[in-house]
Amino acid sequence: MSAPTVTDLIAVKRDGGPLSDDDIKYLIAGYTDGSIPDYQMAAMTMAIYIRGLDADELSVWTDAMLHSGDVLDLSRMEGPTVDKHSTGGVGDKVSIPLAPIVAACGVNVPMMSGRGLGHTGGTLDKLETIPGFTTSFDATQFEAILADTGLVLAGQSERLVPADRKLYALRDTTATVSSIPLISSSIMSKKLAEDLDGLVLDVKVGSGAFMTESDDARRLAETMVGIGAAHDVTVSALITAMDQPLGRAVGNANEIAESLDVLAGGGPDDLVEITKTLAREMLRLAHVDETKVDDAITSGRAMEKLAEVISAQGGNPAVTEDRSLLPLPEQEIVIEATDDGFVTRCDARTIGVAAMRLGAGRRRKGDDIDPAVGIRVEAKLGDRISVGDPLAVVGVRNRSQFEEIEEALLSAWSVEEYAPEPRSLIVDRVGDEL
Ligand code: URA
Repeated sequence: MSAPTVTDLIAVKRDGGPLSDDDIKYLIAGYTDGSIPDYQMAAMTMAIYIRGLDADELSVWTDAMLHSGDVLDLSRMEGPTVDKHSTGGVGDKVSIPLAPIVAACGVNVPMMSGRGLGHTGGTLDKLETIPGFTTSFDATQFEAILADTGLVLAGQSERLVPADRKLYALRDTTATVSSIPLISSSIMSKKLAEDLDGLVLDVKVGSGAFMTESDDARRLAETMVGIGAAHDVTVSALITAMDQPLGRAVGNANEIAESLDVLAGGGPDDLVEITKTLAREMLRLAHVDETKVDDAITSGRAMEKLAEVISAQGGNPAVTEDRSLLPLPEQEIVIEATDDGFVTRCDARTIGVAAMRLGAGRRRKGDDIDPAVGIRVEAKLGDRISVGDPLAVVGVRNRSQFEEIEEALLSAWSVEEYAPEPRSLIVDRVGDEL
């Protein structure tokens, strides 16, 4: 019998059948080398979107993606190597204070991050607002910075998981992003290529996240923890709230400033809570005493670690002491409350979209961003406010930019007579040791 064609395989998945290990390897290799065209892979990803992949198919699919390019070899590194990945949200700058805190506790952190798209921000865009800071390295440079400082804050190199680069761009234009098997294989193939001892996932749930429902977020977390187990990497996941922006700053340079606040021992409560919880979890997976987290901050060692990695990556470390080195907006304009009462909604997606429209994010891959513009959220869920109190301060280049987003931004808040039920920030935990 002749080998099945790509069309046959699409039909198998379309009709709900399983793909064999060889079928999956053939599909991923062929798509990566260009012998399988976009239109056939688009049909395949839509079939997977609708029919799913079972646990065996998913493990092979992830493995084929992982081996579509280079894989890091960090076996020479002294000490444990642990990373964190967030599924993304609005105001989510956690990686920036978290990575130096954990590295200051003696754990290697090869933090590989992404760029913002749509309403969600990207850690690389934020980091690149630090004067001189670069995030693009080949595997040798990446490993050298990690070996010297115990920390590297970089983008995914061209040769790491090339299958994901192509597949993600395809999914982005074919309405197949929000599929649990496709998201989990995309994330986990990149993380497994980092040669980690442990991985902590921050799976966001709420209006500003990929997953708006807790059940879906839990399924995504369980699926990724399962892929980790199949590859002998300990993975644990926190499911955390993303109904409202995390912290107060939404933008790029302003999010670096807020991250510096956390490292200096301050910062907004929600951001501090998530950062410290994830830091303790990373230390736990690395078998390092979790109580070291607070000391890393109060002793100043975490801030020093950030300054060290900024220098190693070509940036100006003086930014850790002088925020005026960061780009600033031309003007700040206050949006005021028009009602008295309690904030019952402070919608992450609406605020994220408004920040993107100001230029802090990109509508399409490859768009430029404006590092200086952004939004500072003054009124958050449960706050009691009066008419005229600030809801947000909007940093812009000019007033007409503000006028374009003013009405939409104002619609992010609901103010009512009664306070909302308090919601916990850490919604759930998934992972065999938790
Ligand atoms: N982040 C990724 O890296 N991949 C996805 O599919 C979704 C979010």
